[in-house]
Amino acid sequence: MGTHRIALIRGDGIGPELVDAALTVLGTVTGELDYVDVDAGAGTYRRTGVACAPQDVELMRTGVDATLKGPVGLPDVRFPDGTEAGVLGGILRTGLDLYANVRPVLLLPGVSSALAAPGPIDYTIVRENTEGLYASRGKGVGNRWAVSDTLLTTREGTARVCRHAFERARRKVTCVDKSNVLRSHALFREVFTEVAADYPDIATEFVYADAAAQALVLRPADFDVLVMENFLGDVLSDLGGATVGGISLCPAGNIGDHGAYFEPIHGSAPGLADRGLANPVGQILAAAMMLDHLGRGADGDRVRAAVAGALAAGAVRIRPDGSAEGGPGAVADAIVSFVD
Ligand code: IPM
Ligand code: MN
Repeated sequence: MGTHRIALIRGDGIGPELVDAALTVLGTVTGELDYVDVDAGAGTYRRTGVACAPQDVELMRTGVDATLKGPVGLPDVRFPDGTEAGVLGGILRTGLDLYANVRPVLLLPGVSSALAAPGPIDYTIVRENTEGLYASRGKGVGNRWAVSDTLLTTREGTARVCRHAFERARRKVTCVDKSNVLRSHALFREVFTEVAADYPDIATEFVYADAAAQALVLRPADFDVLVMENFLGDVLSDLGGATVGGISLCPAGNIGDHGAYFEPIHGSAPGLADRGLANPVGQILAAAMMLDHLGRGADGDRVRAAVAGALAAGAVRIRPDGSAEGGPGAVADAIVSFVD
């Protein structure tokens, strides 16, 4: 299989300790991979004036097989336009054209859900990652009384993310939109329908976004893959996270045709850094998604099985606030002891 080359963005706040924990687990499952550190995030921006240097973006596009990224962002570090300097959305997601933000929502054994009777929860949100409302990032037009942000939907951008969703589906893809109100979402639905015709064996359904928020709480077991516009995916993936023990347990893959990075969906929680509190499970599951992407799905499965085993046995315990007993190092060691 050869050794894969992986870029590491350790990130801000709790990022470095989470990435270390993920590397401990990866080391046990795969042996040493070829790692190259990339300096990126809010701390980098504060030090250098750029959140990620162009040559590092290029490295992620062409010089590595994938990137493992910790959370980035610091509350006091902002771009001149007021958005968070650590937010790599513009540089990495759009810059590398990583159009599918893949967010599995999986209720693991031993984890308590915010739902009283959750049943099995195992679905994946595929969030469009390069357009939608986020295409307006930093470009809102107006004055101090009113600002307008624009939601962009293109045929090509929608078709490729819908295709990605269908390729991932086991039985059904749900199109989530607000096409009863927004023309941009109506185009999303139209293109979804065209793409669906190429996948006759996969069922389809349409659920408006407000109804989807309700359905993900009331009947999460009904879903397989859901595909949606960028901002809807941002909101509904945190809702999903709350039903499976909190967003600290949730991973994501940002995937394009050239490059991909894998991260937890939560933020950098600087107040928790280096206090033995941070929960590395989302980061470790992100590393498992990276292994899948590299064609090492059996290794990804071993990571997920070890995480599930450690949680089920109570060897890893998550507090109601999402923090982990013992902190990232202890959690990684506990998970390693469940790797077979
Ligand atoms: C996420 C995050 C980011 C987003 C923030 C940090 C800009 O919430 O990955 O879901 O909104 O996409
Ligand atoms: Mn989010």
